Amino acid sequence: MIQTDISTKEDIQTLVDTFYDKAKTHPLLGPIFNKIIGDHWDQHLPKMYSFWASILLGEQSYQGNPMIKHIELSKKVQLTEKEFDAWLLLFSTTVDELFIGEKANEAKLRANGIAGLMLNKIQSS
Ligand code: HEM
Repeated sequence: MIQTDISTKEDIQTLVDTFYDKAKTHPLLGPIFNKIIGDHWDQHLPKMYSFWASILLGEQSYQGNPMIKHIELSKKVQLTEKEFDAWLLLFSTTVDELFIGEKANEAKLRANGIAGLMLNKIQSS
């Protein structure tokens, strides 16, 4: 398969769908997603499409506060460096498997930065 960069909303959907398909069966992350999201993936996935389309395509459609969401989440499930490392590895591997280019790199960089901030906020909350 010839890899191209992330450039459309369809690309974002492919990335998000592929990532969460893997996350659902991941030994460490799967139980977290299944516990919190359960069978409400139809509500979670569109939020994630908007989130990444806002970051990578400048869509400005995402209205939410991921920091607060994950601080709340960390009170219900274990969210330590171990979980964030696993999340980042899975995300980066998925990006690399599907895309190549500037936006693909930006996706990985932004995920790293946001994950670092989240972990920091969680640890000091
Ligand atoms: C250990 C790592 C992570 C786990 C286990 C995790 C898990 C979750 C779960 C279970 C939800 C749904 C929360 C709910 O509906 O109550 C959620 C929402 C979300 N996550 Fe994560 N997450 C992680 C890291 C990240 C990172 C690094 C990012 C960003 C790069 C991110 C972005 C989001 C966004 C945008 C939402 C939607 C928040 C909203 O409702 O507006 N997550 N996450």
